[in-house]
Amino acid sequence: MQQKQVRVIEFFSGIGGLRSSYEHSSINISATFIPFDINEIANKIYSKNFKEEVQVKNLDSISIKQIESLNCNTWFMSPPCQPYNTSIMSKHKDINDPRAKSVLHLYRDILPFLINKPTHIFIENVPLFKESLVFKEIYNILIKNQYYIKDIICSPIDIGIPNSRTRYYVMARLTPFKNEIQLHQEEESMISNYLDDNVNESYYIPSDLILKKGMLFDIVGKDDKRTCCFTKSYTKIVEGTGSIYCPIESHFIPVKKAENLLNKNLRYFTPNEIKKIHGFSSEFTTQVDGITDKQQYQCLGNSVSCFVIAQLMEYLFSDIKE
Ligand SMILES: C[S@@+](CC[C@H](N)C(=O)[O-])C[C@H]1O[C@@H](n2cnc3c(N)ncnc32)[C@H](O)[C@@H]1O
Repeated sequence: MQQKQVRVIEFFSGIGGLRSSYEHSSINISATFIPFDINEIANKIYSKNFKEEVQVKNLDSISIKQIESLNCNTWFMSPPCQPYNTSIMSKHKDINDPRAKSVLHLYRDILPFLINKPTHIFIENVPLFKESLVFKEIYNILIKNQYYIKDIICSPIDIGIPNSRTRYYVMARLTPFKNEIQLHQEEESMISNYLDDNVNESYYIPSDLILKKGMLFDIVGKDDKRTCCFTKSYTKIVEGTGSIYCPIESHFIPVKKAENLLNKNLRYFTPNEIKKIHGFSSEFTTQVDGITDKQQYQCLGNSVSCFVIAQLMEYLFSDIKE
């Protein structure tokens, strides 16, 4: 393969999880990123970390001319997942959901008409995206435009990271893939590897909440090797939004009554700990002036596992000579 310069359009860039994944992969080709997003809070976090302005542009209506002018050869994207989720809020409207319009526009109205098509494409989404009508259409467009496609559903826990976050990943490129995807195990599998020192009292769970909803929490100790998926509602909703931490037990042993949780020093994981569990670097921070913890949790809940994606990007770019 000839290309030695990677120029990425990072659609739906959020806080930059896909860029972080690329930068922390073993791919040794420096890349330029052009991020697009309409979420002002995520954009502030992105800009603080990457010293770059995010293009605040609704992707429903971006033009071929605008994309051509960026002179990019790579597309990264994690489009909104609400059209494919089954939660009450999302209603699973798939192709009829207005939030699917932007991604469809990029593949229906832009990609086939580009003079210089992206040579490499990376897509991240929820597992139900794979079965969606939206992805069926994207898949057909990619095939029609001579792309080779590989996909996988996996979770960081599959590679030894103590977190569940099952996602669907699609890698498409204009050269054939020579091998199948093979993920390797990461080393730091215990929660203790991701903890902050001196966690502020504000992260500790109030007794009244423990008594009211304690039995709904998913609780882990420092030597446990799992946490539940951290969603954007972490700390807002108790059930199913992410685990909490018990500092006084190595492996948390379930109790029979909420009262028995009162003396366990239970606390939320901090945004910084979730960032580390997602595989962002130690320099990366979600702490930006004026951005609250709740907003940081929302952005992190929308973001990605850089551990998984770094490995998949190495696979996607295996045709480029460094
Ligand atoms: C799943 S999140 C992407 C998260 C990102 N990969 C990260 O690591 O933080 C989807 C993002 O798409 C953005 N978005 C949704 N619809 C959009 C549109 N029409 N145009 C531009 N951005 C949009 C949202 O603001 C959100 O940040």
